Amino acid sequence: MKILHIDSSPFINDSVSRELSAMIVSELCLRHPDADVTYRDLGTMPPPHLSAGAMSLLHNAQEVAITPELQTELDGIYQSIEELIACDVLVIGAPMYNHSIPSNLKAWLDQVCQKGKTFRYTPQGVVGLIPGKTAYIASSRGGIYSTPETLVHDFQEPYLVSILELMGVAGCHIIRAEGVSRQAIGREKGLAEGRETLLQILNN
Ligand SMILES: Cc1cc2nc3c(=O)[nH]c(=O)nc-3n(C[C@H](O)[C@H](O)[C@H](O)COP(=O)(O)O)c2cc1C
Repeated sequence: MKILHIDSSPFINDSVSRELSAMIVSELCLRHPDADVTYRDLGTMPPPHLSAGAMSLLHNAQEVAITPELQTELDGIYQSIEELIACDVLVIGAPMYNHSIPSNLKAWLDQVCQKGKTFRYTPQGVVGLIPGKTAYIASSRGGIYSTPETLVHDFQEPYLVSILELMGVAGCHIIRAEGVSRQAIGREKGLAEGRETLLQILNN
């Protein structure tokens, strides 16, 4: 089993999403000792935002002069896509930033979500080209967004589920630590709830 483990928090030591994603990978490896893990740290090594040259080449197949910088960018994009295609299980550490996701994670999604490579348009609509994968989203947030009143502000988890589904990743589990900045909940309780959800999913 190939696991692609992604983190996107720029914080190293106190990051809740990193702790949660590491917990997921560790529980998966316990159950699958042969697991092969590829790790990508978008928090400390953010991918570049797509340049005009890369988009022209990828989207419209226009003729573009390939400079050394553009070639480096394209190599990075193709590597990200290959890593995603190769994995059976995707684990994404995803904090909520301003109701959405950190821009480094968005930049990675912009790299891998490519027409003709990970999805395609058909007369019947969009078809994902990378089916058969399971995803675990290690979601951390300071406040609470899982109640009916607050759901409307959540552009983090629904966005990730939606964009993964677009590429054909249908089996998406949310492992959530929320309310980590709230005194009444806090980091440890949030993480404990995430762990409980994870074990329920893995032990079923
Ligand atoms: C730039 C920034 C924006 C944030 N925006 C939100 C937000 O909109 N809602 C929320 O509940 N928490 C927000 N938080 C809190 C984080 O979601 C929370 O601290 C989370 O644990 C961060 O993940 P990490 O610990 O893995 O870095 C924000 C934190 C930062 C640094």
